[in-house]
Amino acid sequence: TTADLETEFDRIVQSDQRIEPRDWMPDGYRKTLIRQIAQHAHSEIIGMQPEGNWLTRAPSLRRKAILMAKVQDEAGHGLYLYSATETLGVDRAELTENLIEGRQKYSSIFNYPTLSYADVGVIGWLVDGAAICNQVPLCRSSYGPYGRAMIRVCKEESFHQRQGFEMLMTMMSGTQAQRDMVQESVNRWWWPALMMFGPPDDRSPNSAQSMAWRIKRHTNDELRQRFVDMSVPQAEVLGVTFPDPDLAWNADRGAYDFGEPDWDEFMQVVKGNGATSVERIANRRAAHENGAWVRAAAGAFAARTAASEKE
Ligand code: ACO
Repeated sequence: TTADLETEFDRIVQSDQRIEPRDWMPDGYRKTLIRQIAQHAHSEIIGMQPEGNWLTRAPSLRRKAILMAKVQDEAGHGLYLYSATETLGVDRAELTENLIEGRQKYSSIFNYPTLSYADVGVIGWLVDGAAICNQVPLCRSSYGPYGRAMIRVCKEESFHQRQGFEMLMTMMSGTQAQRDMVQESVNRWWWPALMMFGPPDDRSPNSAQSMAWRIKRHTNDELRQRFVDMSVPQAEVLGVTFPDPDLAWNADRGAYDFGEPDWDEFMQVVKGNGATSVERIANRRAAHENGAWVRAAAGAFAARTAASEKE
């Protein structure tokens, strides 16, 4: 009976075992996973654009090769994650349609422009740093295909984070103009990076249920705090500051106090009114449409192969 199936599902989740594609799962669990994993996949794919913007202007062959590898990794992450959603009964073509029609979200962070080359380093350091903070616990997500995909994704994100930090260290030991460029970039990206963790817990409609299902392992505010605590000492090593007058060590809590991100700005960006929202989706749509002939050719080839196997 459904009651037995539910009991078994709860037992698996509560004992920290994995739910696998063929297991029974509540509709809400399936829907939540499709929503979160699809948004995550879209973020990886859209996330190729801000940094891809600097590929033709990387200052050396070495920097260009690193950046190209990183942007390709993001495509790989997107494809893993689309595969994970396919195990839940949706297909990639449908998800891509949802993205380019604006029916599904992707991370707010990718709706900001990359104005200077320092942004490549700062995205690696802070944006990929925030992504790791959020995604390492997702390796223990209750849904097997998602948790397993996260393991490799996190390894690659660690490489991205280090390449960003190393690039910024190099710039910080360069000229005053380079140091200023890094600080200016940090000033623009700090608050948007904090917003990546989602709205505050008391305004996060999905958190409680996702935590109960062990899809999410920590709340948005817990992970945001963890990220701030991790980033402050790194900023000191680099020699940059964060644009937050309220940032201060709190000995009682054993953590940093910090200011409130501008949640109105966050809501606007999530609604599709970010500085580059229209451009990001237009580029994704154009890439999809320009690839139509590849999909048609692959489909024709598969049909012909299937027909000749029947003969
Ligand atoms: N950007 C865009 N939308 C967001 C963001 C964000 N930074 N944070 C929250 N939202 C959306 C949620 O998707 C949700 O919308 P929906 O109900 O229409 O789907 C709404 O705001 C309310 O938020 P929550 O109830 O807190 O949603 P949720 O429990 O899903 O938590 C979070 C949001 C933390 C982003 C979670 O979905 C998650 O951990 N996702 C996986 C990580 C991920 O997607 N990373 C992508 C960026 S990292 C990278 O690609 C480099």
